[in-house]
Amino acid sequence: MPQQRLDKLLASTGRWSRKEARDLVRQGRVSVQNRTALREDEKYEDSAPISVDGAPVDCSPFVYLMLHKPQGLLSATRDKNTPTVLDLLPEHLRRRGLFPAGRLDKDTTGLLLLTDDGDLAHALLSPKRHVDKVYFARVDGRLTPADQEALAQGLVLPDGLACLPAGLELLEEGRACRITLREGKYHQVKRMLEARGAPVTALKRLSMGPLALDEALEPGQWRALSLEEKTALLALK
Ligand code: URA
Repeated sequence: MPQQRLDKLLASTGRWSRKEARDLVRQGRVSVQNRTALREDEKYEDSAPISVDGAPVDCSPFVYLMLHKPQGLLSATRDKNTPTVLDLLPEHLRRRGLFPAGRLDKDTTGLLLLTDDGDLAHALLSPKRHVDKVYFARVDGRLTPADQEALAQGLVLPDGLACLPAGLELLEEGRACRITLREGKYHQVKRMLEARGAPVTALKRLSMGPLALDEALEPGQWRALSLEEKTALLALK
């Protein structure tokens, strides 16, 4: 396995810039194999047991960030006219070639995974894998147990799209719901609920497979995945 400089390994996690990583080492806050690192140019493999302030840090080659997507940004890497979710990241992360694993509409908020791990994105999004995606939706009108039943059977939309069976939990006396899809067609939640006479007025993604939105993140905020979150996601690969 090739070795890399310690500051580069730390920066590869997406949690620190190269300069911040260098400062951590110089402040004596980084240890490798329980020995305090002395210089930022010491070289290690990305599997080395590296800790910062005593907490283990995973320095594998890919970056995985959880973003609470706000309204008004595109789930894209760049756009001529509209800001994208990547505009929320600092320069050192924008340069890494991260992309959103799956799209949310411009007006949808909630969980978005940003990564440079193409294999993971493929495993999460592949139509064959049926990874659960859970959304909170507020609707105009009222959803009822009949809607639950219809979604559980598998809706056929007016344009002929046959949806897989979906879960619907009624909230706020049917004016809101938690809906669980096992696929991700264009505008799918909006089209399904519209077809039931309950157009969506607000939509937020709560989870994707094992990854749940950290409610401590305000819209527009992001953080690196914890080791546990990452391990759970990578098990899908
Ligand atoms: N379904 C939608 O209609 N919109 C989204 O952004 C996500 C799922």
